[in-house]
Amino acid sequence: TICKRYAYTYFIQNNLKEIFLSIHKIILDCDPGHDDAIAILLALSSPKEIECLGITVCAGNVPIELTAKNALRVLSLIENKTVPVFRGCPKPLVTKLVTAEHVHGESGLDTGSGVSLPEPISNCQKQHAVEFILETLSKHPSDEITLVATGPLTNLAAAYTLDPKTFKKAKNIILMGGAGFEPGNITPAAEFNIFVDPFAAKSIFESEIDIFMFGLDVTHQMIITPKRLSLIKKSSNSIGPTTADLLTFFNSYDTKKYGWDGAPLHDPCTIAWLIKPEIFQIKKMSVEIETNNGPAFGRTIADWFNVTDKNKNVNVAISGKSDQFFDLIAERLSRFS
Ligand code: RIB
Ligand code: CA
Repeated sequence: TICKRYAYTYFIQNNLKEIFLSIHKIILDCDPGHDDAIAILLALSSPKEIECLGITVCAGNVPIELTAKNALRVLSLIENKTVPVFRGCPKPLVTKLVTAEHVHGESGLDTGSGVSLPEPISNCQKQHAVEFILETLSKHPSDEITLVATGPLTNLAAAYTLDPKTFKKAKNIILMGGAGFEPGNITPAAEFNIFVDPFAAKSIFESEIDIFMFGLDVTHQMIITPKRLSLIKKSSNSIGPTTADLLTFFNSYDTKKYGWDGAPLHDPCTIAWLIKPEIFQIKKMSVEIETNNGPAFGRTIADWFNVTDKNKNVNVAISGKSDQFFDLIAERLSRFS
């Protein structure tokens, strides 16, 4: 009996330790958006690695009412009524809102077939996203909450400005945005998420919180080729075809713009890194945000070769294994079968 008890205690201690060591408690701030939608699906398909405490939305790809509805529609696609969704800031901190219907369609989640995603089966919370972010950080110990951002950084910067002490309890910020080597995708210099709210980005990049930046340098390696689209379509009987239908539309603009055989799948890189960090190569470097008017407005100025002695404030993803990335997405989507 004593041996059995010892064996059981040993099993529980080691397994609980293993489980708790690897679970990331996250808030996912996003602007759905096709690639944001895949990031949501990837996060919610991975309960052993990720506990999503809430989804907060900002204005970006489309205005806030649509990003909010789209987050709810993604949850209805997987019949999830439990993850709370919070509306955030309807415009950037300083600049006018710039949206991307040319990429994501009028709804922000247009499909190749023209058939819309299911209507929401839940509603947004009454609490504002910024309040939820701060309340969550205040309720948890420091260095326990990961903030994932796959849209403009308006909500995060607003929370930081409102209550810097509480905001800095965040463990880290994992964001899709910027470009260190690649040119911009909304202007020759700037990536969309940073360009929409560069003053928010500047505030966050100077916050001294541990930042992991998944910019165009790595996301432009994650191309949704026809083979990978087919892999996603076959991944799940329930949501595979719909996900592929979404990405078929998402491919249409970028394939013409870049001349590639698919669009880059940006946002899920953040979640994939939390699940399988070995997919990516990370390099720490100084990254500053250009907020002066001019052709470089919204540029992430990355000191790639360390030619200055500036503080290396950002962990930049400089490359990724694209086959492993898409295999992970397909495997996780298959869990919704
Ligand atoms: O530049 C790509 C980013 O802008 C992605 O997050 C996409 O969803 C848009 O928000
Ligand atoms: Ca996005």
